[in-house]
Amino acid sequence: MTKSAEQPTPSVDATPDVELARAVVAGLSQPQKTLPCALLYDARGSALFEQITALPEYYPTRTEAAILAGAASDIAAHTPPGSLLVEFGSGSSRKTEILLEALPSLAAYVPIDVSQTALEDARARLAGRFPALRIIPIRGDFTQQLVLPQTLAKRPRLGFFPGSTIGNFAPLEACALLRQMGQSLGPCGRLLIGVDLQKDLARLISAYDDAAGVTALFNLNLLHRINREMGADFAVDRFAHVALYNGAEGRIEMHLESLTAQTVALGGRRFDFAEGERIHTENSYKYTVAQFHELAAGAGWTPRRLWTDAEDLFSLHELTPHDAHP
Ligand code: AVJ
Repeated sequence: MTKSAEQPTPSVDATPDVELARAVVAGLSQPQKTLPCALLYDARGSALFEQITALPEYYPTRTEAAILAGAASDIAAHTPPGSLLVEFGSGSSRKTEILLEALPSLAAYVPIDVSQTALEDARARLAGRFPALRIIPIRGDFTQQLVLPQTLAKRPRLGFFPGSTIGNFAPLEACALLRQMGQSLGPCGRLLIGVDLQKDLARLISAYDDAAGVTALFNLNLLHRINREMGADFAVDRFAHVALYNGAEGRIEMHLESLTAQTVALGGRRFDFAEGERIHTENSYKYTVAQFHELAAGAGWTPRRLWTDAEDLFSLHELTPHDAHP
């Protein structure tokens, strides 16, 4: 066998090993052990998340899609021809199709994502469905300032940030991110953002602890990933998925709970776990409409329009900069 045949194909999506190791060691060294939620989305994690979005308990994806379908012509009526649609963290760009269907006169669709594969797959699919659409993928971190090709810089921009991804950010970070998006979209820009709403506890919890156990696999996959990519020795079957609601913070939390006292070797170190000790792996903040309006206003945005479903499970907001003309 040649040497190159032995080498796994380097994945352009993989978090560089040193960065992964640094983040994991830092997170597990804290008194409250934590792992960054971005690490949940390796190839297997992304596939499991796609499965989550189809679960009966996971209402956000289908509810937001239905809201978008109902709002699309209204959104289109407020979008000047020749605009750019800029999506922050576009992933599979599935929901975007609902908007693209309603917005035939866009100058271009600009999906931003860290995953080159996701960008390429989405581009291939969208090119088939919307042959006239110009697609300008940008590979990168959507929390950074957007840099557009010179020729497009003067176009009005409609930002799109669906999925309640904003809920992964603590309020101060969420405020900074919304402000950054304002910079990226410019003074004539608008932002369409999907935000999951506060609701009864049982409904919230079951969305993050489904009967089929897919969310548990998604959470536990993080340990498999660390074992594989860092040569760690997590006994994955000695950890359990926990989803809980933190009322003081207004967020769902995912944790991995150690079922026994155990020690894990990782990156030349050892980490001790007490029985019942948890690794905090994700936050998913929920808002009331009033709370989200306040957050947006603090980041320089005026709420213009709001769409929700009949059960008030999920919300879609259109925001414009404070000083913009309506
Ligand atoms: C992709 C962050 C919006 O918080 O609902 C779903 C991630 N985690 N089930 C969410 C997630 C567990 C999801 N976001």
